[in-house]
Amino acid sequence: MNVLAFERDAIAVLWVDTDGWGAAAAKRCLGDCGYHVGEVESVTAALQAARSQRFDVAVVGLPRIDQHSLELLGRLHATAKSMRVLVVVDEATVATAVSAMKVGVSDVLVKPVGDGDLERVIQASAEDAKVSSCAADPPSGGASRAGRSSILGTSVAIGTVLQWIDRVAPSAMPVLIEGESGTGKELVAREIHAASRVADQPMVAINCAAVPASLLESELFGHEQGSFTGAIASKRGLFEMADGGTLFIDEFGELAGGLQAKLLRAIEDGRIRRVGATEERQVRVRLVAATNKTLSDEVRAGRFREDLFYRINVLGIRLPSLREHPEDIGLLVKHFLGDSWTLGEGVLKALQQYAWPGNVRQLCNALERSKVLAAQPGIIAIEDLPREIVTAGGEPPLEIGGNVDLETLNRVHVLKVLKQHRGNKAKTSRVLGINRRSLYRLLEKFGSKHGG
Ligand SMILES: Nc1ncnc2c1ncn2[C@@H]1O[C@H](COP(=O)(O)OP(=O)(O)OP(=O)(O)O)[C@@H](O)[C@H]1O
Ligand SMILES: [Mg+2]
Repeated sequence: MNVLAFERDAIAVLWVDTDGWGAAAAKRCLGDCGYHVGEVESVTAALQAARSQRFDVAVVGLPRIDQHSLELLGRLHATAKSMRVLVVVDEATVATAVSAMKVGVSDVLVKPVGDGDLERVIQASAEDAKVSSCAADPPSGGASRAGRSSILGTSVAIGTVLQWIDRVAPSAMPVLIEGESGTGKELVAREIHAASRVADQPMVAINCAAVPASLLESELFGHEQGSFTGAIASKRGLFEMADGGTLFIDEFGELAGGLQAKLLRAIEDGRIRRVGATEERQVRVRLVAATNKTLSDEVRAGRFREDLFYRINVLGIRLPSLREHPEDIGLLVKHFLGDSWTLGEGVLKALQQYAWPGNVRQLCNALERSKVLAAQPGIIAIEDLPREIVTAGGEPPLEIGGNVDLETLNRVHVLKVLKQHRGNKAKTSRVLGINRRSLYRLLEKFGSKHGG
């Protein structure tokens, strides 16, 4: 291995060239930029090098990611936790990229990668590595985020979301957040930006549903003077405004077909063109998209481009509906009500039984309303709750009695919704926000436990 004596502050890059990929030019470029470069020819040799010396970033050239390389990459990450591992491959699928991130790879780049791009990614990763190696190593996974996150919840469902944020935030790849209305998609988008490498740069947000379709292209990409009636001066678009930072595109599923193509190009190589312009511009934007639709359904229905979906969904997540984590309702209530309020008898139970189609936002609004209407200040009584929440419970207090576990609550709720829809399983699963197969599984489980 050819390793130089490193100065303390220079960025140290471990160049792992397993496939003879453009090494000479890219290495020279890094050297010219003042980086220290150590070079090895296999991941196994990289493991050894990383054990004996501190590197900020490892750049691993591979033909593709397979089971064997995944295992080695995982070990490389585990050997030097503060070192960022970038992988440069000939080809990657959604599944392999996700698997790579899961074993600790911070970014997957697909060849060809421009020297300038590579340098930018390395620089960003190195800064990230330095920051995290200065801070005392936090415990890994959701535990590190829980407690300092504005996303509240101690359920497994929320823990999974927090862990996912920790994993994807440092990457430059686009992310997709799906979830029903009010599940916290925007909140999650803001946390991703705050935990990203570009947190000190702006996050620019746009809601596709709130902008008329005819203006959306110019909003996103900008326009030149006179390019359409009313374009009296040229204008920068949001991609340009977000350059260097994050662009949050809300209601992403509302994007029209032509714009989807333009967006794909912007994501793939950072090239955008203002409306009416002839030349393209280069931007570097981290894209976070959110939608309350199920984008794969939109693809199947022919309303959304498959290629864009796959590109954006590599690091996708579906946020849980509130029905899926009723155990967090107590905590959320405490947070929304503040210290000077308590719940009257049966109120928490009623809240936990309700289906919350509007999720956390609806819960927050219901509590605000109840506070105003409360007969006795400081206490929310069952009568103060919106009618639909209480009546949705039907006969529950009698039916389930005092000491009730989550499974019973679930069973009561599912069976009630089923009854409300006269046994129609398609409708029931839609209302419950689960797929039909999960509903069948639940019914089977309840059936076997309760005499069929
Ligand atoms: N887990 C959570 N902990 C604390 N607050 C939450 C949580 N989830 C959502 N909220 C709050 O609920 C409200 C709705 O969240 P947000 O606006 O992020 O939802 P959304 O998914 O973007 O909804 P929509 O699809 O309607 O735009 C916000 O006030 C947000 O702070
Ligand atoms: Mg939103």
